[in-house]
Amino acid sequence: MIVPGASSQGLAAALATELDEPLAAATYDRFPDGETLAAVPDFESGDRAVVVATTDSNDAWVELLQLQDAVREAGASEVVTVLPYMGYARQDEAFEAGHPVSARAMARAVSTTSDRVVLVNPHEERIADFFDAHVTVVDAAACLSDPLPETLDDPLFLSPDAGAVELAGAVRDAYGRGETDYFEKVRHSGTDVEITPSDADAAGRDVVIVDDIVATGSTMSQAVDHLAEKGAENVFAACVHALLVRNARTKLERAGVERVFGTDTVERDVSAVSVAPYVAAAVSAVEVGE
Ligand code: R5P
Repeated sequence: MIVPGASSQGLAAALATELDEPLAAATYDRFPDGETLAAVPDFESGDRAVVVATTDSNDAWVELLQLQDAVREAGASEVVTVLPYMGYARQDEAFEAGHPVSARAMARAVSTTSDRVVLVNPHEERIADFFDAHVTVVDAAACLSDPLPETLDDPLFLSPDAGAVELAGAVRDAYGRGETDYFEKVRHSGTDVEITPSDADAAGRDVVIVDDIVATGSTMSQAVDHLAEKGAENVFAACVHALLVRNARTKLERAGVERVFGTDTVERDVSAVSVAPYVAAAVSAVEVGE
């Protein structure tokens, strides 16, 4: 049975279709003191539970733990936790003395009630090591080529930093033609980033910037700005996880982006493609011990 978190109802439904499994009627309530109560009233004892929950807020994290506990309590034969987008993954080290490794803390909490975990494009692959449960990492970046027009002119696939160049390469390969390059990025704070353009000639070309996350849009909008200055024709901003917090949309529009789109790991109006087939393959592959 596929058990949706409140933020992942569309993806969970798509996954239920892919796996041909029933979709649980999970409920999400809140007490007057603000505490959440996520429940799965129709869960059948002995079923496998695939809990699908993006954790893009503290409430979503708590609801995920509640859903896991609810299905365990109801007699699930196995609990598979799918984290389409794992919040806190960018806090993957103690940045100063006295800081927590928040990604590890979250991973340990999730592991206590999971037999296995599926992670979609975690910020760093080594996040998987923080889990005590078995983890399958899914790379769904290639699906970002699907929403692109077939007519891109001399396309250039760029990542805004060296860390995301493999994602840009995966989208380029799926698209079937074009060059791949990357910018250099230095992050000064949560919203202050400095990007140094590459030498790639963008004049008159269609450019697709690919990143794993667009959060405040600082990174992506600066990259779009640079490409506009270099005379790029159309600039597309593609990401796996389109968080788009604060004024990210405005920054991107003002920078002159042609289109912003992402997947349904974070369900937004820009979610143009589903990662459900990739997640379904990962869930099924582990089933047969691959
Ligand atoms: C960082 O290394 C990530 O790949 C993204 O570039 C970053 O998370 C984007 O954040 P923002 O949209 O706030 O610049």
